[in-house]
Amino acid sequence: MSTIFTWYGHATIGLQTAGVHLLIDPYFSGNPTATAKPTDVPADYILVTHGHGDHLGDTVAIAKRTGATVISNAEICGWLGSKGIKTHAQHIGGGFQYPFGYLKLTLALHGSGLPDGSAGGNPVGFLLTTNSGKKIYFAGDTGLFGDMRLIGEEGLELAALPIGDNYTMGPDDALRAVKLLQPKVVIPIHYNTWQLIKQDPQAWKQRVEAETQTKCVVLAPGGTYQVEV
Ligand code: NI
Ligand code: MN
Repeated sequence: MSTIFTWYGHATIGLQTAGVHLLIDPYFSGNPTATAKPTDVPADYILVTHGHGDHLGDTVAIAKRTGATVISNAEICGWLGSKGIKTHAQHIGGGFQYPFGYLKLTLALHGSGLPDGSAGGNPVGFLLTTNSGKKIYFAGDTGLFGDMRLIGEEGLELAALPIGDNYTMGPDDALRAVKLLQPKVVIPIHYNTWQLIKQDPQAWKQRVEAETQTKCVVLAPGGTYQVEV
């Protein structure tokens, strides 16, 4: 069973696994790097890491169009539920077995205010165990934290980490995160969307591969990576 990771630009990721389309932080409208339209992308489940506009993005419109279930923390699910969206609320440390795998919410150090000023609870990351047993970690927007070591102990096939700096980890701390997480493969995200988070992913890849055993895959927006099975 193959698992295909698509980077749509910024922190927007598509994951096709077990015949199910997951969409993570679906920010298309207003995203200068977006490579797809919110009216086109497939979604059976939408995973939202936190309430900020560049992550919640087009969640409401895509969920209404596709009938997708949104998975997020309880506060964001409550807010979406009041708009008629189907949700499955979880919280940090809790996992649930879905048809596409076992999904656990993880710590993220960030904010989570919703676009209308509502409180969005705590931001989260996601740790997915696919049906073939591969673990994929989506850090969400976060600073570096030492408990990434605990997430790494699970044995990661792939990690998607922000490297943009300013709002999240920059290249230096993201490199330290790779050392704690020790994934087989890392894909950098949340950079080059705007000047404020401009980074050189090839330079970061060189540092990762010189200082760790992790392979770094740099995707262009719209690019895909097939997770080994
Ligand atoms: Ni954010
Ligand atoms: Mn962000």
